[in-house]
Amino acid sequence: MSQFFILSVLLMEKTIGAFKQLEVEDFRVLAIIERGMGKYEHVPIDYIVKTYKHGLDGTIYRLDRLHSLNLLTRWTGQYIGYRLTVSGYDGLALGSLVSSDIIDAFGHALGLGKESDVYDALTPSKERVIVKLHRLGRTSFRQIRRLRNYVGDKNNISWLKASRISAEKEFEALRILFEAGVSVPRPKGYNRHVVVMDFVEGDELYLIRELRNPVKILNEILDNVKLAYGVGVVHSDLSEHNVIVKPDLHVVLIDWPQWVRVSHITASRYLRRDVYNILRFFERQFSIKTDLEEVLKKMG
Ligand SMILES: Nc1ncnc2c1ncn2[C@@H]1O[C@H](COP(=O)(O)OP(=O)(O)OP(=O)(O)O)[C@@H](O)[C@H]1O
Ligand SMILES: [Mg+2]
Repeated sequence: MSQFFILSVLLMEKTIGAFKQLEVEDFRVLAIIERGMGKYEHVPIDYIVKTYKHGLDGTIYRLDRLHSLNLLTRWTGQYIGYRLTVSGYDGLALGSLVSSDIIDAFGHALGLGKESDVYDALTPSKERVIVKLHRLGRTSFRQIRRLRNYVGDKNNISWLKASRISAEKEFEALRILFEAGVSVPRPKGYNRHVVVMDFVEGDELYLIRELRNPVKILNEILDNVKLAYGVGVVHSDLSEHNVIVKPDLHVVLIDWPQWVRVSHITASRYLRRDVYNILRFFERQFSIKTDLEEVLKKMG
């Protein structure tokens, strides 16, 4: 197990551990600091006291609490100032999803992607969902570079802004695709850098060593790629890692933040690469040879 993995698991456990202890008043103070961060690099304690309206002692009590939960960093320069940590933003996003009845209880960490942390959770009506916390810039700036097209300030894009855009984009794709009948997890909601969607039971395609009818699965994946293309969406990061095979042997395509519209200048290149990745996997794993050009011709 890599050091990065252990560290990330610790961070996730800490986030959820801290989140479970938060009170309504804590969320208010976090939200005040979040707003203040639009104006200040370190949000001055005076600003927080004035906005929170619970006196100096009442405010310091909250700030100390949030600081000891690692949701804030404290700066002592010309004045005392605070900033939210990554866990602080997580807390705010998860808190908003809970108060808008999108999620209710948390389970455990399901997985660590390169660019996200995924948790198991339940909705108030006890449906199983996953909560995907987008974490861009953690391991690479590849995704951030790609996202620069979508933001105004092209040189200065923070992990948070990039992660928010990523979450918003993924939610938008899931909404379009789910409505069009493409096999993707049903989107439930999003807030800040966090997306909630239906939990899909099964295994990622790359883990599957034996299949009775691999051609049927290959065709189902390609049919879904074609259906998505028909409603203007190209996945752009499709591979055996982003296909879940359910116990009933139907497939679900996941991990959509980097999708592009078919009108995008690189759309046909990305479509080709998506299809190529899938064909290459089926050729290696199941010795199924399929002609890439033939498949692309049929995509329209
Ligand atoms: N809807 C879902 N239901 C069940 N498991 C899921 C779901 N979405 C994601 N997962 C699990 O979490 C993992 C990471 O999710 P996803 O691929 O969306 O994120 P990622 O960070 O972009 O991953 P990577 O960068 O490794 O491709 C998946 O490989 C899968 O195991
Ligand atoms: Mg993935």
